[in-house]
Amino acid sequence: KLYKIANIPGDGIGKEVLPEGVKVLDKVGGLYGFSLDYTDLPWSCEYYVQTGSMMPENGIDILSKHDAIFLGAVGFPGVPDHVSLWGLLLPIRRQFDQYVNLRPIKLMPGMNTPLAKPGKIDFLIVRENTEGEYSDQGMILAEGTDEETVIQHSVFTRKGVDRLLKYGFELAQTREKKLDWATKSNGIYIAMPYWDGRAALMSKNYPDVATAQYHIDILSAHFVRDPARFDVVVASNLMGDILSDLGAACTGTIGVAPSANLNPEGKFPSMFEPVHGSAPDIYGQNIANPIGQIWSGAMMLEHLGEVEAAGAIMRAIEFVLSDETAPRTADMGGTATTQEMGDEVMARLS
Ligand code: NAI
Ligand code: MG
Repeated sequence: KLYKIANIPGDGIGKEVLPEGVKVLDKVGGLYGFSLDYTDLPWSCEYYVQTGSMMPENGIDILSKHDAIFLGAVGFPGVPDHVSLWGLLLPIRRQFDQYVNLRPIKLMPGMNTPLAKPGKIDFLIVRENTEGEYSDQGMILAEGTDEETVIQHSVFTRKGVDRLLKYGFELAQTREKKLDWATKSNGIYIAMPYWDGRAALMSKNYPDVATAQYHIDILSAHFVRDPARFDVVVASNLMGDILSDLGAACTGTIGVAPSANLNPEGKFPSMFEPVHGSAPDIYGQNIANPIGQIWSGAMMLEHLGEVEAAGAIMRAIEFVLSDETAPRTADMGGTATTQEMGDEVMARLS
């Protein structure tokens, strides 16, 4: 079996960690009897500086000829972050209807959590990925005057909210049958009560799933104080984004956190990338943790139907992390290079 993968290393440490993901994927493919055919795409801030856009005009068309997209990170000083995000990641997520951003948070043995009483941390953040607070609708009024006013609308559609909730509930049914959702219905009093209402309505279709609504502020506090209570957490685009860095940090480092931008219907390719960004502060030192990228590769294989191979990568990751003598990158308190950590995961694949 052959899968066509579009590789976009992007910027900064994206260029360092993506090759680690690729080498693990290739090895596991050899072990489990499939291969991956990559198209390497240089779309990035550097590409923007040279061409004036983050990807070519037919970029989406090029990507659509692939089974999945494997991305490092995008964004680098010199190009405003909203230009790089809106020029590459957001068009891909939107045009391919990748409306679910699935972000597992898991404390594995050997990880250095900053929490005093972490308990078992093993939950999934289901982030809305195509609308919400990340909207291009807004304006600046009375610019340059004392009355200068900036407005940016959040946009929530019934279709957008419902399809995300449905995905969350179906996921919850395969796990602990527990779903929590984040809103801020006291402050944002039109859009968020709407969310609450849609969630309450949707929950009627899933009577076996226990639900709770939290305002985002106290939910953040519970992430730190009692993360063991969570199993599936559904949130809007911005809230899910913030919660996923927070959740990952509770396990010790955001360097391990993976994500899947899913088009659940499989009509378009899905995209797999670590949660972290391009980390310009450590780029070039080869000390970035490649686990988030490698784990994202496992999510990609699972999506492609190579469930056993995905499981093998996860076992190798857990094996490395739980072995105190194994190499660790600086974010986990060690001195290993990105490549040494990737090699270690490779060595433990079986
Ligand atoms: P960041 O995630 O790049 O870095 C935050 C901190 O975490 C830094 O101190 C960094 O060194 C550390 N870190 C991140 N990944 C790491 C890894 N794998 N191993 C070890 N340490 C790691 O977030 P920041 O600084 O807010 O953004 C930097 C750039 O990345 C910006 O241009 C931003 O727009 C972009 N970005 C891109 C994302 C994407 O491509 N999906 C997501 C988040 C940010
Ligand atoms: Mg983020």
